[in-house]
Amino acid sequence: MFLQILFIILYIVAILSLIYGLWMIVPFFYRLPWVPTAKDRARRALKMVDLKPNELLYDLGAGDGRILFMAAKEFGARAIGIEASPLQYAFTWLRIFFKGRHPFGHRQAQIQVRHENFFQTDLSDADVIFAYLTPKLTIRFQDDLAKKLKPGARVIAVAFDFPDWKPSDFDERYLLFTYDMPPQKGGMAAYLAEKEDF
Ligand SMILES: C[S@@+](CC[C@H](N)C(=O)[O-])C[C@H]1O[C@@H](n2cnc3c(N)ncnc32)[C@H](O)[C@@H]1O
Repeated sequence: MFLQILFIILYIVAILSLIYGLWMIVPFFYRLPWVPTAKDRARRALKMVDLKPNELLYDLGAGDGRILFMAAKEFGARAIGIEASPLQYAFTWLRIFFKGRHPFGHRQAQIQVRHENFFQTDLSDADVIFAYLTPKLTIRFQDDLAKKLKPGARVIAVAFDFPDWKPSDFDERYLLFTYDMPPQKGGMAAYLAEKEDF
């Protein structure tokens, strides 16, 4: 009896370790590790771009879906998460399902998640983009992103800026950068040069 219980516990621990391992490892294949944005940081970002009710936000790499839920619950926005890793995608899908928010992606759904590579996503209807990328990915994506987004769309960059674009706002404490589309050239240098202190 004791051995049976031990075997079951070891089995559960092995399965959980495997899930945890895949959760952490798969995003590395896309060269973008899973690092969730802290809630106060995300809230500050969504306030900086003045996210409004019914506007459409895309989270590029939705992770556990926290940005989508915050955008919908606290700002009344619609939110679409793009996620390439199957585990993060399944987790967010289930989260949406159990909150009864129609994860099947029908047109009226307030929150959706798509199993997709964000480089291939049509973002032409986005009002706000939430991008927690790496320095290499911001460089690689910036020209393409500028072409994909409609004029008036806003972009939030967490931790790493889009180097060629001049931010419309910058939060030093949370390391957040926002941009209005089409982007102005000049990067952070142009933004800082405009500030009185510099
Ligand atoms: C830094 S985490 C950000 C998670 C979430 N946006 C947040 O701020 O809490 C990046 C996420 O993007 C996903 N990801 C990485 N490359 C991707 C790609 N090319 N397309 C879609 N998702 C991707 C990873 O699996 C991971 O869940």
